[in-house]
Amino acid sequence: MTVSETTADGEIDVEPDLLSGLESYVTLSGAPEEHFDVEAPYRGVVIGELPACDEADIEVAFDRAEQGQKAWEDRTVEERAEVFKRYHDLVIDNAEELLDIVQLESGKARKHAYEEVLDVAMTARHYAYRAEGYLETEQREGALPGLTETEVNHHPVGIVGMISPWNYPLSLAVSDAIPALLAGNSVVLKPAEQTSYTALKAVELLQEAGLPRDVFQVVTGFGPTLGEPLVANSDYVCFTGSSATGRIVASQAGEHLTKCSMELGGKNPGIVCSDADIDRAVEGLIRGCFTNAGQLCISLERLYVHEDVHGQFVEAFVDAIEDLQLGTGYEYDVDVGSLISEEQLEKVTEHVEDAKANGATVLTGGTGRPDIGPYFYEPTVLTDVDESMALCANETFGPVVSIYEWSEEDDVIERANDSDYGLNASIWTEDLDYGRELAKQIETGTVNVNEGYAAAWASLDAPMGGMKNSGIGRRHGDEGIMKYTESQTVAVQKRMGMTAPPGVPYWLYAKLMNKTLKFQRRIPGMR
Ligand code: NAI
Ligand code: MG
Repeated sequence: MTVSETTADGEIDVEPDLLSGLESYVTLSGAPEEHFDVEAPYRGVVIGELPACDEADIEVAFDRAEQGQKAWEDRTVEERAEVFKRYHDLVIDNAEELLDIVQLESGKARKHAYEEVLDVAMTARHYAYRAEGYLETEQREGALPGLTETEVNHHPVGIVGMISPWNYPLSLAVSDAIPALLAGNSVVLKPAEQTSYTALKAVELLQEAGLPRDVFQVVTGFGPTLGEPLVANSDYVCFTGSSATGRIVASQAGEHLTKCSMELGGKNPGIVCSDADIDRAVEGLIRGCFTNAGQLCISLERLYVHEDVHGQFVEAFVDAIEDLQLGTGYEYDVDVGSLISEEQLEKVTEHVEDAKANGATVLTGGTGRPDIGPYFYEPTVLTDVDESMALCANETFGPVVSIYEWSEEDDVIERANDSDYGLNASIWTEDLDYGRELAKQIETGTVNVNEGYAAAWASLDAPMGGMKNSGIGRRHGDEGIMKYTESQTVAVQKRMGMTAPPGVPYWLYAKLMNKTLKFQRRIPGMR
């Protein structure tokens, strides 16, 4: 594997004022008592410090969010949408700076940072143009046709509390907030402590686009301190992160009967069929497995390859992986960047070492690359993996994939579904109808046919999220905005009341109603 670096001397090659002023977007109740360090994973050096917010800061954030919310809700949807049309353009115009900050904080390759810019711009566009349609008052069939006029209003819930992870620090801090804001809510965000500068930069651009300051609050710091008061004050909680933390946050939301969505982990399967285009499958599955060094909730960690093409696929896959460029550069030529942290490197190393000790075979990779950067790990392919190994069923969240062979369809479906997770799956076949049929039998919230993950994710009109332990609720499409609203049914009753008319005894009314009901069930237009 080759290594590319923009800096030979170990210095971080970015503009010195990249992060300056961003701290001013953190909500504070007074002078912060504590700070925490933010690290650049490429070199493992500290690049800044941010306030470790506390409960008092959370209170101020919610007070401001509440103060701003009513006036924001009172604007028309079109007025709110204008902000996000401008935001779309601002994100594109400021892409280089955003990419630098994302890379600096997360250590990912520029290509993978660019996916975040794309995602945020596309999400802003989708909801800016579609929110009005999603949110408008709808006419529904009334109880008594002609006599009851029924409509449904969609009110904002109020304040949406968001907790986001470090792996897609731009996307996951903003893209779920966009529909929440368009629906008339305000947002209080706690970004991951590793990558909060990115979130603060995103908020700076939101304000430049015209979002009123109060309606988007950011508190920086640690989940175990801030999670509970954030959940307690929120009208809706949107969490993205690990299943373990998701359980804690969901149970806190449960105590307050606060609605929530949880986008959690995955152990996502890929299935290569005997008729797959192997070149395409190799290219797509490399992205599917190693994008963001595998630190992607929807990335693939298990590949099931049909016995007819197993040898051919594995050889081409391993060859292509060995050509991947690892590096720390701020250019697009790097294919695989760093892991986020020492902690993440330890977890990946432990998984691979445990698999090796229990008999797994390493086809490529299998070691860290401290010569490139302290948290680099080689793209790794394993075979002979079985249930005695921790990585067989648990999310590694790193550049590690296990390959298995299959021959019978029933068997591969059963093995793909034999997981507590159910987030994403990928199927490779030249028979697209077969791909669609196979997809229906896979227990995951998204299935990509002839793509790893991006086709379903970027279909913003369609829901995205997890079955089983991979989550609750969905982002994107109508579900991704309606979850931030309360439906309100208003029914107007005209003339006749909902009881026996005056002078008609109730026994007669009941008899007539019985006849009416039987008639109604048989008349298509009246069901
Ligand atoms: P995490 O789920 O603990 O962190 C995500 C967010 O939750 C961060 O903002 C964090 O500060 C916050 N948080 C942590 N503890 C909290 C609590 N008690 N209450 C409320 N919020 C809390 O993930 P972490 O610790 O960064 O990574 C651990 C593992 O989770 C990784 O090794 C990876 O396997 C997995 N992970 C999976 C993600 C996915 O999208 N599938 C995203 C991030 C991590
Ligand atoms: Mg944690």
